[in-house]
Amino acid sequence: MSGHVPVMLAEVIATLAPRDEATYLDCTFGGGGYARAILDAAPRCTLFALDRDPDAIARGACLVARYAPRLQLIEGRFGDMLVHLAARGVTALDGVVMDLGVSSFQLDEAGRGFSFRADGPLDMRMEKRGPSAADLVNTLPEAELADILFRLGEERFARRIARAIVERRKEKPFTTTGDLAALVRARVPRDPSGIDGATRAFQALRLAVNDELGEIERGLGAAAQLLAPGGRLVVVAFHSLEDRIAKRFMAEAAGRSGGASRHDPGALAARAAPRFRLLTPRALRPSEAEIATNPRARSARLRALERLEQAA
Ligand SMILES: C[S@@+](CC[C@H](N)C(=O)[O-])C[C@H]1O[C@@H](n2cnc3c(N)ncnc32)[C@H](O)[C@@H]1O
Repeated sequence: MSGHVPVMLAEVIATLAPRDEATYLDCTFGGGGYARAILDAAPRCTLFALDRDPDAIARGACLVARYAPRLQLIEGRFGDMLVHLAARGVTALDGVVMDLGVSSFQLDEAGRGFSFRADGPLDMRMEKRGPSAADLVNTLPEAELADILFRLGEERFARRIARAIVERRKEKPFTTTGDLAALVRARVPRDPSGIDGATRAFQALRLAVNDELGEIERGLGAAAQLLAPGGRLVVVAFHSLEDRIAKRFMAEAAGRSGGASRHDPGALAARAAPRFRLLTPRALRPSEAEIATNPRARSARLRALERLEQAA
């Protein structure tokens, strides 16, 4: 196993700008790359780090020991951060980072069932409990499967794939990633740029199994509630569906959304003064040098927001 190379690490740390005596939350601990860098950047800060994957939490034990008592790992979802932090007496934060999606540990371990490259059980559950990808594929009605593939995978051939899945599962349920990937590849035209035909379907199923977009909505809302004046929220997204949610959320929080019309001055005046400032009017992208050494960084986009000082 190769481990996880943190993406846009230098940009994340420069944007978060960790300070001593401050308290931070890493929503997606993963391999601990961001966590370690935050703890090193401000040697007297405190960091809480969440991950919903029990394996990530177990792997982090040595880091907890190394940085004790400044690092606390919490197994749970960032959508529930308010509850997890309140249970530890934390009601305000100076910064929050979110590095969305899956880690290389999850992708590279065939047994977790995230990858269409290596054959493994059709699982994809970050938490290792609840309904798996196989459960969805083998039980959902055809229309619902097609909707997931279309909405969460932006798959043009969603209906065709869903129909083929439902036909095939009548004879034999899907149990492995290789089995599903082969069926999908046979139903979509070959991509001239070389992208594997199963990519979009696998993304869709992963997002559905883990309710990832719902988690992002809940997590961003909770993070905005927790940020103290001057506190920063930094989000790294890897595909357009994730990034769109972060972009829209931040624009609205900073009062930049097109909500009220200039033809309705009453509505404009009634709009509350923004409590946040956009730190990235345009998303930051990884450098060419980073993409060359870590191809996984290719699609990353970083967006950030700062909570304004309290109005006088
Ligand atoms: C891209 S990796 C993070 C890598 C990390 N920044 C590093 O430098 O090692 C994403 C991690 O977030 C976790 N994760 C994804 N969605 C989550 C959620 N809603 N709540 C908590 N953890 C989540 C995954 O289990 C995975 O370990």
